[in-house]
Amino acid sequence: MTAEIKNTLLEIPGERISLRALRHGDIELIRQWRNQEHIRKWFKFSGIISEAQQQQWWEGYRQQDNDLMFIIWHKEQARPLGTIALYHIDLQAGSAEFGRLIIAAAGDRSQGFAKEASMTLIDWAWRHLPLRKIFLEVRHNNIAAVNLYKSLGFMETGRRDDFITMALTAGPQG
Ligand SMILES: CC(C)(COP(=O)(O)OP(=O)(O)OC[C@H]1O[C@@H](n2cnc3c(N)ncnc32)[C@H](O)[C@@H]1OP(=O)(O)O)[C@@H](O)C(=O)NCCC(=O)NCCS
Repeated sequence: MTAEIKNTLLEIPGERISLRALRHGDIELIRQWRNQEHIRKWFKFSGIISEAQQQQWWEGYRQQDNDLMFIIWHKEQARPLGTIALYHIDLQAGSAEFGRLIIAAAGDRSQGFAKEASMTLIDWAWRHLPLRKIFLEVRHNNIAAVNLYKSLGFMETGRRDDFITMALTAGPQG
């Protein structure tokens, strides 16, 4: 089912942003975003990603039916702002992991773009996938991200090493 969605899903509209399904032409831009020190330090794998590694990741990504990644697109200015994803989608278990959230440029931060993108994706997921739980992991000292996730309703479910696990358990339709 997710494979079908992945192959047909092009865009999820929000108000100021839309979420556009990731294309091969995006992968170099997101590699450059992801390799910046101030961004990669927050991710579990915080090393530099080479072009070859990125290409290899793409080859795997396009074949996986449990991983949906999007470019966060500024509608009015018609330009990319960052990325967001739902992965480890397990329709049997009714769960998925939320992440790869980046608002790339400092000048685009603190304007509510990450929050709108997150709400747009989560709302879409509750409506289109039979999910009961969306979970995530975040570095405990990533204050911006932790605050954002709390504001979306995620509750802390545990801590391991430098990471907090959080979960959101009920969709709008309960
Ligand atoms: C985390 C990140 C995606 C937030 O993006 P953003 O567009 O600036 O966030 P928003 O403007 O939508 O903020 C929404 C909420 O997040 C929290 N928040 C965002 N930036 C914050 C900051 N610098 N300090 C404290 N809280 C912050 C606030 O609760 C804010 O709500 P408020 O404005 O009503 O107070 C962005 O800082 C980023 O890309 N960081 C680097 C990558 C990263 O850490 N990704 C998450 C990995 S788990």
